[in-house]
Amino acid sequence: MTETTPADVFERELRKLYHAELEILDLHSDLAAAAASEEVAALFTGHKEDTVEQIHRIERIFEQLDEPPRADGSPVMEGILAEKDALVTDGPSELRDLDVLSTGMLNERFEITVLDRLLLLATDLELSDETVMELEANRREARAALSEMEAIVERRRVN
Ligand SMILES: [Fe+2]
Repeated sequence: MTETTPADVFERELRKLYHAELEILDLHSDLAAAAASEEVAALFTGHKEDTVEQIHRIERIFEQLDEPPRADGSPVMEGILAEKDALVTDGPSELRDLDVLSTGMLNERFEITVLDRLLLLATDLELSDETVMELEANRREARAALSEMEAIVERRRVN
């Protein structure tokens, strides 16, 4: 059996992130459609361009690694999608916005977790500054999206 190298792990995580970003385009439009309020729907439709740019950044990293872009699913992402499917078919509910937001937040936290791992590996592997900058830009946007979602949840909190 050949040993797994840090470079293999980097590639595996990058494929996982690429798969997640490709799925997020549909995930966000489903979440927008399922939201009860305009505010929450707008938050999810408003992130489409960011996601497209995040996908491009990941494709540029594959290019920098001289690898063809490949997306691999992961059990975590499958779980997030299953959760979304369940709430989309559940029918209307007063709690719908919070359901939608928590699925959105799970997704952003997953992205951030994978990006943190990739950033650590990029340092270990001494990958180019370009690669690190692309990863950092995606992390910043995921963090900003998560903060927006957290702010709405915080405002709606019942005291
Ligand atoms: Fe993203």
